[in-house]
Order: sequence, then C-alpha cells, then structure tokens
Amino acid sequence: MATILAIETSCDETAVAIVKDCEVYSSIVASQIDVHRAYGGVVPEIASRQHLEMINICLEQAIEDAKIQWPQIDAIAATVAPGLVGSLMVGVTAAKTLAIFHDKPFLGVHHLEGHIYASYLNEPQLKPPFVCLLVSGGHTSLIYVKDCGSYEMLGSTRDDAAGEAFDKVARLLSLSYPGGPAIDRIAQMGNTEAFPFPEGKVSLPEGGYHPYDSSFSGLKTAVLRQVQKLQSETKQPLPISDLAASFQTTVAKSLTKRTIACALDYGVKTIAVGGGVAANSALRQHLTAATAMHDLEVHFPPLKLCTDNAAMIACAAADHFNRGHRSSLSLAVQSRLPITEVMSLYL
Ligand code: KG4
Ligand code: ZN
Repeated sequence: MATILAIETSCDETAVAIVKDCEVYSSIVASQIDVHRAYGGVVPEIASRQHLEMINICLEQAIEDAKIQWPQIDAIAATVAPGLVGSLMVGVTAAKTLAIFHDKPFLGVHHLEGHIYASYLNEPQLKPPFVCLLVSGGHTSLIYVKDCGSYEMLGSTRDDAAGEAFDKVARLLSLSYPGGPAIDRIAQMGNTEAFPFPEGKVSLPEGGYHPYDSSFSGLKTAVLRQVQKLQSETKQPLPISDLAASFQTTVAKSLTKRTIACALDYGVKTIAVGGGVAANSALRQHLTAATAMHDLEVHFPPLKLCTDNAAMIACAAADHFNRGHRSSLSLAVQSRLPITEVMSLYL
C-alpha cells in the first residue's frame, strides 16, 4: 500500500491529490477554462502563469482535505510528460522541491498512463489486459493495456484529436468553449441523420483502410462546407442542433467501430474509456450498445475522473511505487513521449 501526493499541471488544470493506492483522500482541481475562454483555446504562456498562482493554494487544500500528516505520505509524484513544457515545469518543480524538503522519493508520471489509471480509481477490481480508448482535447488513442508500464499503441488520430474536433466544430457553429459539452447539449435536440457526414478513414499504402486509426480533419471540413452551403442557400438561421447531432454521431460511430475492432482482434473482454470526450452522451450510447452486442464490458469513469485530475496521476504513481520504481530528481519534463516509453521515466 502506498500513499502518494501527486501534482498534475500538463495543460490547463492545476490539480493536486492525495491517494492511497486506488482510494482518493483528496482531489483538488483548479480549472483555467474561464481564463482561456476569451481566446477560444489554451494559451500556453497564460497557462504556466496560472499554474504558478494556483499551485500552493491547491497543495494546501489537498493536504487539509486529506487530513494527513507528512510522515504518512510515501512519495511525491508529478506529470512529467506529455504536455505544455512551461505548465509541466511548474508541477514538476513543486513536486521535486517537496520531495527534497520532506526527504521522500519522487516519481514522474506519464499523463496518458494517468488517464488509464482513472478507470482503476472507480473500479479497483479492473485488471489488465484491456483496451483503453483515450479521447481528450490533445489525444485520441487506442491502447492495449498489458500491465503497469506495459502498453501497446494500437491506434491514434492522424490529425485533430477528438476533443479538438469538437472544439473546432463548436467554434464554427458559434457555440461556447470548450466545444464538447456545448455540442453535446445542443445535439440532444437535433436529428442525428440530418446530415450524413463522412467518417474519416486513414488509407493504407497497400490499399484499404487502417482499422484503428482515426482522422477528424475531413469531417470538420465537411461540417464547414455544409454550413457554407446552408448559408448561401437560405437566410434562415443555421440548424445548429441538427449539425451538432450529425457531427457528434459520426464521431461516436467512428470511435466505437475502431474500439470494438481492437477489443475483438486482441481478444480482450474489457474496454475502458478516458479523457474529456468520454463524457460525450453519443459515444457512451454507441459504445454501450456495441459492447453489449459483442458480449464485451465497457467502463466509463465518472466525469470528474475523465477530465484532467491529479488523483489518476497518484493512482498510477502508487502502482509504480509498489513495484519499486523511482524517478531521478534530474528527470526532465518532455512535451512528447510515447506511452510505450513510460518505463524510461524510472531508474
Ligand atoms: O481530458 P480533457 O479534460 O483535457 C485534455 O487532456 O485535453 O479533455 C478536454 C476535451 C475538450 O476538447 C472538450 O471539448 C472535450 O474534452 N469534452 C467533450 C465533452 N466534455 C468535454 N467532448 C464531447 N462531449 C462532451 N460531453
Ligand atoms: Zn488529459
């Protein structure tokens, strides 16, 4: 059993959590969404400054909520990759400083491994192997989870991440930022079949299509063309809810098809979903129906564990700590690091 204090600052959430293996003692998330909304997306320089302002407040609150004393904490962890370098540095510097001051081991954590561990927080009985669909503002990944630190990347996006596509299409439809929840909300009133948008496919050099990779830029352009066509043909207001529902359903079907293909091809019975887009109602409906049809299980963590948080980082760190893994205090942050290279973070 390991009690970990973890910090997550890879993008626009300053988060600190204290977790004992899979049990959350405290989890503080200070979101910067309101600050970045004016710019329609995350501004890296502003994000790092906001992390600096919030990190100590979040740390104090997490320790107070957990009602814990320093001697009870076994190690300090922080997300070291991938992410915005300036943002990552704030969390990692704070974690290393605490580790030195309190004489505790330090563990660097891979952000995507953290998202995978969000599923364990909710269901500690979940055991690998399983397939994890990670869909966020920065990632669209299908990962074969073999064990702690052992991953195979089965599929990814060739262009925009799923959340990025939601955010861009929302902007095109004049909906608020972040776009995913706005599209999801208005799509509830729309006709999913009003506009048959094309599912983005990734061609293979030998012919045919990649069974697990996605592409969303063509779909985004198709929505743009449809909007332009409607605007040139009629003076009526745009059918925003129909456009949103048709777009959302196309994304949900495309992700569901690829996820089910991975599970069947790799002979696993369980699928876990993570990242902000895991909150999407159409994705949940399509995956739930498809898994039931194929006699598979699907796990969606609650929304607050789908989006960025430090509890998932602490949970991943606890598993590594229990296996004797430790990071060097000279471990540097990295803007990119494939999940297959997680073990390079440990001594
Ligand atoms: O995991 P997350 O909080 O941050 C990243 O690591 O990117 O994901 C944020 C993304 C945003 O693009 C947001 O639009 C999307 O998740 N999102 C949704 C929904 N809720 C959040 N996308 C579709 N439907 C939703 N209900
Ligand atoms: Zn994330």
